[in-house]
Parts: sequence; C-alpha cells; structure tokens
Amino acid sequence: MAIDTVINGGTVVTDSAMFEASVAMNDGKIVAVGDADSMPEADEVVDATGLLVMPGIIDPHVHIDDQFSVDSYETGTSAAALGGVTTYIDFAWQAWLGDLSPFDAEGTLLEGVRRKQKKGETALIDYSLHGAITREDPEVLDELADVVDAGVTSFKMFTAYEIGLGNGFMNRVLERIAELDAVGVFHTEDASICDELTALFQEEGKGDPTWYPQSRPDYAEAMSAEDAVRMAQEAGAKYYGIHTSNRKAADVLADFRGDGSMVRAETCTHYLVLDDSIYGELGNQAMIAPPIRKPDDNEAMFEHLRNGSLDVVSTDHCGYKLESKNVDNWWESTFGANGLQASLPVVHDEAVNHRGFSYPFLVRVMSTNPAKIFGLPNKGTLNPGADADVVLFDPNETYTITAADNASEADFSIYEGREVTGRVKQTFVRGELIAKDGEIVGTPGHGKFVERTLPDWDF
Ligand code: URP
Ligand code: ZN
Ligand code: ZN
Repeated sequence: MAIDTVINGGTVVTDSAMFEASVAMNDGKIVAVGDADSMPEADEVVDATGLLVMPGIIDPHVHIDDQFSVDSYETGTSAAALGGVTTYIDFAWQAWLGDLSPFDAEGTLLEGVRRKQKKGETALIDYSLHGAITREDPEVLDELADVVDAGVTSFKMFTAYEIGLGNGFMNRVLERIAELDAVGVFHTEDASICDELTALFQEEGKGDPTWYPQSRPDYAEAMSAEDAVRMAQEAGAKYYGIHTSNRKAADVLADFRGDGSMVRAETCTHYLVLDDSIYGELGNQAMIAPPIRKPDDNEAMFEHLRNGSLDVVSTDHCGYKLESKNVDNWWESTFGANGLQASLPVVHDEAVNHRGFSYPFLVRVMSTNPAKIFGLPNKGTLNPGADADVVLFDPNETYTITAADNASEADFSIYEGREVTGRVKQTFVRGELIAKDGEIVGTPGHGKFVERTLPDWDF
C-alpha cells in the first residue's frame, strides 16, 4: 500500500548535518529518510529540487489572542505557517487581563490553559502553552502539579510590568518548579529602575520614541536576570531566560551556565538584526520590551549563539495594529511587534548569508533546541517516528518583506522593505500541507494542542 507523501530531490538539514535525501511521510509521521530509490511508493510526490528540507521551526515565545496580541489563533497560526513555523508556544494566563486590572483579576492557571485551548480550536499549526503567573497568590503553588499533568511544563514569570512578581514570591515558585522538575521562564527587567526612569521621562516630556531605550537600560535587564537566575540556582530549578537583548544580560546567563547551573536562554530575531536607530525610523512600531539595543549588542547576541550560551532564536510575536502605535508619547504605545512570518527568512539571511553560520546552526537554534528545552520529543527532528513537521526552504530566492503580505492581524512590519535571500516555499504540519508559495492551503483546526513532557536538559 502506498504511503502519503515523499519529498524528493531536496537537501535535508538536521541540527548537525546536511545531505541529499528523500523524506517519506505517512499518517502524520516521518517514516523514512534516505535514497530516493529506497523510498516506498507514495500518493503524493513533492519535488524539492534546489530546496532545503528542514524540521519545522519551533517558536517558544509567541503571544496570540490576549492582552498582548489581537491575532486570533487562525491569523496567528497562518502567519506562523507562512514563516515555516510548525509549532509555537503561547501563554496561558492565570489572570485574564483583557478587561480587568491584574490586581482584580481572578482565575487559575488551569482555567487559563482551558481558555487558550478553546481559542486553539482554529489553529492551523500545533501549539503549546507556558503557564503565566501574574499575581502573588500562594494558591498557585498547589496548582502547578495539575498544570504539569495537563502538559504545560513551563511557567512564565515577569519581573516588570504591573503583572511583575517580587523576588520573594518568585523564589517560592522556583522551589516548587524544582520539585516538579519543570522549567521557570523569565522576563527580567528591574521594575523599579524602569518605572522610575519612565516617570522621569514623562515629567521631562521625553515622549519621542528615540528616548525609549534609555528608560529600560541594559543593566536593568542584567541585574534582574542575575537575581532570577541565582534564585533558580539556589532552588535547583531549570531556568529559561526569554528575549535576552544585550551583552550584559547575556554575560550574566553565560556565567551561571558556566558553573553548571541549569540555564538555557533565547534572544529574538529583532535583537539580532535591528539596533536602536530603528526608533528614529519606525518610532513606536518598534516599541518592544526590552528595547532594541546598540550594534554591539547585535554582535553579542551572535557571539553567545555561536558559543552556545544562547540556545534559541524566538520572535516574541505580538500581533498589534498600527493604530495602537500611533500615539503621542512612547509610553502610551502597545509593547511588542509581529515577527512570526518574517523570522526564518530574516535570521537565515543575516546569520547564514551575511555572517557565515551553517544551516545546521539555523535548525539548532530555531527548531531542535526549543524542542529539547521545552519537552517536545516528537518535534524539531526529521528522524523516523517524529511528527512530519517539515519546511521546504529556497535558500536562493530573494524578496522584499512587506506588511502587505502579513497573514497576521498586524498591519505593519519592523522588517518592512528589508530585502532577504531565502524564502519559505512549503510548510507541512504532521504531514499535511498548510502553506504553499505564500498562500495558506491548510484548514483551521488541523493544529493541535501538544502536551509537553518534563524535559531532560542533558544536551
Ligand atoms: O514588548 C513586549 N515584549 N511585549 C510582549 C510581552 C513580553 O514582555 O514578552
Ligand atoms: Zn517579556
Ligand atoms: Zn513576550
């Protein structure tokens, strides 16, 4: 009997190698990788001549359909599929902040998980969730084991914003996380420094976006990261630092990792390829926390990715409309920007084409590492038995990124006008073709919530 699909003629890229091979998919799984002659007969034969055949991108830091994003699961996962992303990890909020102040909001993490799973019924790609703890309510400590049982094995905490937690409470959560062998995920910026500087800039009328980076300085990120990672070390908890933006913060994480602590960390596409001149060019469109930094910080991100002290490149995708950016002062703007659709082409162009990084590096930091870090054993690999999540990528096609192509609700792009070489051609999720040549061909509802395991960080 024929299997579903064989992809012929492409160059397979894994996290450690590149070779000419065919890939066979059946019932949503990879069933063989090898010579074209050895492939079983298939109903569908895809010609990947001249294309790279990579495991689908896994983006572990994405905001969809909540206070940080007007994207629905349909628009968010469409943008993702067009960007070669086959799984992302969004957030299940303990408190629903849509209409409520975080201080008034009630609700459990499990309710947050169920709320997002309901929204996820229209997903085109697979997704998972981090539990996001937004208030200092000790009851959450009793809930974490049930949330882990529901397949949500990582917990996000913020040190900044009005949903930021104090060190005392985060310390208790980390002890519980260590007992459960789950992962603590941290947004670290010293709230008191950022709030004080913001208030000062408000008093002084420094509302032009070019002032913004100075209100959330690099050392404030590094200080807060140091507190959080030290608490994780003391508790014996796994620590994942999100959206690392600058050299000082990355150095702190590298130091703790160097002493054997369980530390993994990401940077984001925008911290690799944009610098703070963007605030003079695009103003509030680039209002993102932490801020986009200096050219030397771009260099630092690449240095840390190269030496392995940063593991992942994510997007921190927030699907905001331009109208939420068109405000008088930067502090009135929404914080965050869309990136799911553009990220792989942008990172490929900068890292591989301009800086000489390898294709396996790209697969490592955008697919295999996030799968390993977050307990997705069936993803991030093309090994037989894995989910047939595959992206076909043309490394030679040149095009210009424009928001006019956005599938996201977001109607701007911080990469607008950027010419890149390398384009996503086809995206398969569990064997089903979801995006082809810039069009969505998949069906809402194909995407599934993925229960994650407790990860081994033995790599
Ligand atoms: O500015 C950002 N990054 N907005 C999204 C929320 C977060 O901090 O990740
Ligand atoms: Zn954040
Ligand atoms: Zn975020």
